[in-house]
Amino acid sequence: MTRFDTIRPVVWQDDHLQLLDQRLLPGETRWLAFHDSAAVAGAIRDMVVRGAPAIGIAAAYGAVFAAREAVAAAPADWLPRFEQALAVLGDARPTAVNLRWALARQRRQVDASTDDPATVLLREARAILDEDLAANHRMGELGAGLMTEPGGVLTHCNTGSLATAGYGTALGVIRSAWAQQRITRVYADETRPWLQGARLTAWELLQDGIPVTLLADAAAPALMRSGAVRWVVVGADRVTANGDVANKIGTYALALAARHHGVGFMVVAPTSTVDMALPNGDAIAIETRDPAEVLGVHGTPVAAAGADAWNPVFDVTPAPLVDALVTEAGVIHRPDTESMRAAFPVERAA
Ligand code: MRU
Repeated sequence: MTRFDTIRPVVWQDDHLQLLDQRLLPGETRWLAFHDSAAVAGAIRDMVVRGAPAIGIAAAYGAVFAAREAVAAAPADWLPRFEQALAVLGDARPTAVNLRWALARQRRQVDASTDDPATVLLREARAILDEDLAANHRMGELGAGLMTEPGGVLTHCNTGSLATAGYGTALGVIRSAWAQQRITRVYADETRPWLQGARLTAWELLQDGIPVTLLADAAAPALMRSGAVRWVVVGADRVTANGDVANKIGTYALALAARHHGVGFMVVAPTSTVDMALPNGDAIAIETRDPAEVLGVHGTPVAAAGADAWNPVFDVTPAPLVDALVTEAGVIHRPDTESMRAAFPVERAA
């Protein structure tokens, strides 16, 4: 681990899974232990663990429990139970394709080996985690390389170690670019309603000694207009075959403002987030969560009693607004159907 790479939110310990409870950060650092697949699905649904790659990794470990439980319950006919448990894990959250990608990869392992399924799946979950970490470091280098002149960057939500195996996607680029002195100032949207920016991104950056300036989400266009920002750098929950990007609600507004102000808009996501099976962003299932999340602030009700709220937690940024899509496989400038197909043969779909 380097100085800029210290946090690991998903850890397998002996025979169980440990998750850093992200609902409590930054006030409290509490690890929760998981021993069964249904509890892992619940942790994903309830945001104990969040961020597209991290939920995929957690689900991959959840599959280990699913195999153990199914084999213990019905040694001779365990596969149907196993598949049922995978379905529960896969339904925990709908938008990030990494979740189903990881489970599909685990399902294929079972077909490919006659060894003890839990052993095979544990090995594969570890591989998924290791590959994600390596991809993040690679994307960090590639994305930082695009920042040819020092300047400010703005990010949204949390795309760092907490959202991945470690290091992060967009935040990994920011870590790498900061280490190379390509960034003069990091700005982070607070990211209503879950406040991933204010709680998690700010915490992570400060752990690494990187100063951060928070802003209300609605202040981002004014910041861009001031000239303080050269790049907006965000992650993704799903990138479709035409280059459309689903990410945390508010990303689309950032992309529109960035284009208007001549600010670069960079999306950083591992290939496990690319879904070549979906033609465009209209086909992405956008998660809508409890209105109470909007009617209050971090659990405290603030809205006038009786008000309703609309709470889609992701939006879709159309591909033409994306200046650079960075994956561990390389950089695609202004992605479109053609460049996406060239970079990601359709067989790689989740
Ligand atoms: O609802 P969350 O916190 O899971 O949303 C996370 C995001 O939108 C991230 O930007 C995305 O998953 C990319 S994380 C590397």
